[in-house]
Amino acid sequence: MSKIIASCKNIVKTFNAGEAEVKALQGITLDVYENELLMLVGPSGCGKTTFVSVLSGLLHFESGSCKLLQKDIATMDDVTLTAFRGENIGFVFQAFNLLPSLSAIDNVALPLTIKGVQRAEALTRAQEMLNAVGLNAKEHIKPSGLSGGEQQRVAIARALVHNPKFIICDEPTSSLDHKSGQIVMELLTKIIQEKGASMIVVTHDNRIYKYANRIVHMEDGKITKVAL
Ligand SMILES: Nc1ncnc2c1ncn2[C@@H]1O[C@H](COP(=O)(O)OP(=O)(O)OP(=O)(O)O)[C@@H](O)[C@H]1O
Ligand SMILES: [Mg+2]
Repeated sequence: MSKIIASCKNIVKTFNAGEAEVKALQGITLDVYENELLMLVGPSGCGKTTFVSVLSGLLHFESGSCKLLQKDIATMDDVTLTAFRGENIGFVFQAFNLLPSLSAIDNVALPLTIKGVQRAEALTRAQEMLNAVGLNAKEHIKPSGLSGGEQQRVAIARALVHNPKFIICDEPTSSLDHKSGQIVMELLTKIIQEKGASMIVVTHDNRIYKYANRIVHMEDGKITKVAL
């Protein structure tokens, strides 16, 4: 039996948007194993982004429990949680969230600089990650000068550069053509194998289902099916 990297039990999350209450997560229970690529699929609005945000400590939840690398994230204070995330989690946001004033290479180097890695080494490692996603020629360009697919690959490089144990990618191939999508998925698969990382990939893209170890289906804030 593989080691459990993340364990969620009965997670409930409700948003209060004005008058309306949105029950985004209605009791999610899920374990993620070491060396696993788990895909999370389901219709728009079913709670995928909310769930991965809770799981990575970016969003508070009302009830249930969530352990990441044996640590209970609900009881960590903000400073501890931020440091824990910086060390252990790589997150590719659905909206990329690149810093507009920084070039591609400086965006990718950021998680390393935050950890105190020296600038020269951070830039070398950022360069390697940009090469791996096929963006070596664009390292000095700022996000506004990059296409959507190029920005997405910068976001992926930034999520991987510090060798996190747990990687969460929210729609990592949504802006990519078929070939770039395959390159990205092959890179992610290689990282799982070589570094022993675990990964959750949120996706609508059935062309990449073949890379999954398990596919978890969500609807209306609940898990409806887990397929191998
Ligand atoms: N900050 C927020 N405030 C209020 N409601 C929210 C907020 N974020 C998400 N929601 C609502 O929670 C539900 C789940 O949203 P979520 O973003 O998790 O869906 P999703 O499955 O990621 O959808 P998509 O595939 O479109 O990205 C939706 O009904 C959404 O409108
Ligand atoms: Mg989403």
